[in-house]
This record gives sequence, structure tokens and C-alpha cells, in this order.
Amino acid sequence: MRKLFVIGIGAGDPDQVTVQALKAMRQVDVFFLIGKGAEKQELTDVRAAILAEHVQQPHTIVEITDPPRDRTVPARHADAAYQGAVADWHEARAELLERAFAETDGVGGILVWGDPSLYDSTLRIVERVLERGNLRFDYDVIPGITSIQALAAAHRTVLHEIGEPLHITTGRRLRDEGLADGQSTLVMLDGECSFTQLPGDDVYIWWGAYLGMPDEVVIEGPLRVVENRITRRRAALREAKGWIMDIYLLRRSL
Ligand SMILES: C[S@@+](CC[C@H](N)C(=O)[O-])C[C@H]1O[C@@H](n2cnc3c(N)ncnc32)[C@H](O)[C@@H]1O
Repeated sequence: MRKLFVIGIGAGDPDQVTVQALKAMRQVDVFFLIGKGAEKQELTDVRAAILAEHVQQPHTIVEITDPPRDRTVPARHADAAYQGAVADWHEARAELLERAFAETDGVGGILVWGDPSLYDSTLRIVERVLERGNLRFDYDVIPGITSIQALAAAHRTVLHEIGEPLHITTGRRLRDEGLADGQSTLVMLDGECSFTQLPGDDVYIWWGAYLGMPDEVVIEGPLRVVENRITRRRAALREAKGWIMDIYLLRRSL
């Protein structure tokens, strides 16, 4: 039976690639690089650089461009229309991966940004390909360093108070649901600086952009003191590069 590896490669620093990931990569004959959005070229380049540095065996690289997603449907997760749009998009991506895998031979590998378990649809797509029933293969998941760990390390901090939980969410949900008292909240996928909409002057923020990459920037401090600095810096970086990836931790003091 054919084999596929879904390999977490860390959040941008090629040195975050684990020994386990390297061992998996060295068994792969064909790598599928799935790209999307404005950031796709640089993220694809990071993956290609990782392969160039670590993979010596003959291999093929197949770039798969993500099909466009219907963004006209508002992102309300309980909504059937939204779920339908996401399901259609996953189906279209499954078709592309299925075709690319069927047209090639040998062991396959998909390099996933950070870790595949966090805000990444690769595993859902792979499951979808298997459900479609046209291809039979076995697959393994290799964990990677997530941007969450990269943020904690860059700030040399623990993500939560002693024995307390950590809440992981998106910018949109932070805007909708706010911040619980005393809870440590990690926010990803926020294109709108949602932290600026939080009330109160008792919130602390640890923010990071392009973590592990040459342009890495980190800012921390009381939210009301540093929020303008973050939004200005974020806008300038985004303007200069054409895309940005940032993540932050928030905590309201008790
Ligand atoms: C589609 S999610 C993928 C997350 C990834 N699977 C992980 O484990 O980190 C993309 C989000 O992750 C965060 N992110 C990923 N890499 C990052 C980096 N190098 N610096 C800052 N944020 C990053 C950002 O919040 C971005 O919007």
C-alpha cells in the first residue's frame, strides 16, 4: 500500500524541523507543497529551502495551488451556509491532492506549517481523499513546533498561570466573545488587531510576527500602553512585505 507522511515543519525557522520530521522526509519520493494566499510564495520558499538543506535522495516537488474559497459567505461557524462553503473547499482541495498523488509514484509527503493539529485543514483533506475511495494509502502524522511554542519561546514565557488552562482562539471569536477574567488566551488568525476592541486597562499582551523568520518582531506590555505601537508596526510590516502572520497571548490580571 502507498504511504503518505503529513509532516509538521515548524513555524518558519528551518532549525525547528525535528529529527523525526527529517527521518520522515528522507523516506519521501514526492512532496506536495500546498500554497495559498498572499504569503504563499515565501512560505513555499521556506519549505523548498528545508528540502534543499535536508533531503538528499532524488525526489519530486509538486506544487498544488489552493482552489479559491467562497469568501462571500460570512464566517459564522454554526451556519449551514458557512459549513457548506468550507466543505466545498475541502472537497476541491481533496480532488487536487488525490489527482496529484495518483499521478505520481512512491512515498508522498506533505509539509505542514507549524503542526498539523492547529488551524490547518491538511488532515481533514487527507481523510476526505480516503473517504472518496479512489485511492488507498496509509498515512502517518509527524508533529511540528507550532507558532504557539515559537511565541512562548520568543517571549521567554509560560503561556498560562500555574495550573491554569490556556484558551486558544481566533481573532474573530475574540471580537465576538471577549476575554475571560484571569484566563490566558492565545489568539491566531487575526487580520484585524482584535485586541484593540477589548475593554479595560488590565490586559497584558505578548505579541509576535514572523516568528522564527528573519523579520521576526516581538512586542509585549500592558495592552493599552503598547496596542498603538503594535497596530502601527503591524501595518508597516504588512505594507512592506505584502503579508503578515502574527499571533499573541492575552491575560487580564486578576
Ligand atoms: C493557518 S494557521 C496555521 C497554524 C500552524 N499550523 C501552527 O501550528 O502554528 C496560521 C496562523 O498561525 C499563526 N502563525 C503561524 N506561523 C507564524 C509565525 N511564524 N509567526 C507568527 N504567527 C504565526 C498566525 O496566527 C497565523 O494567522
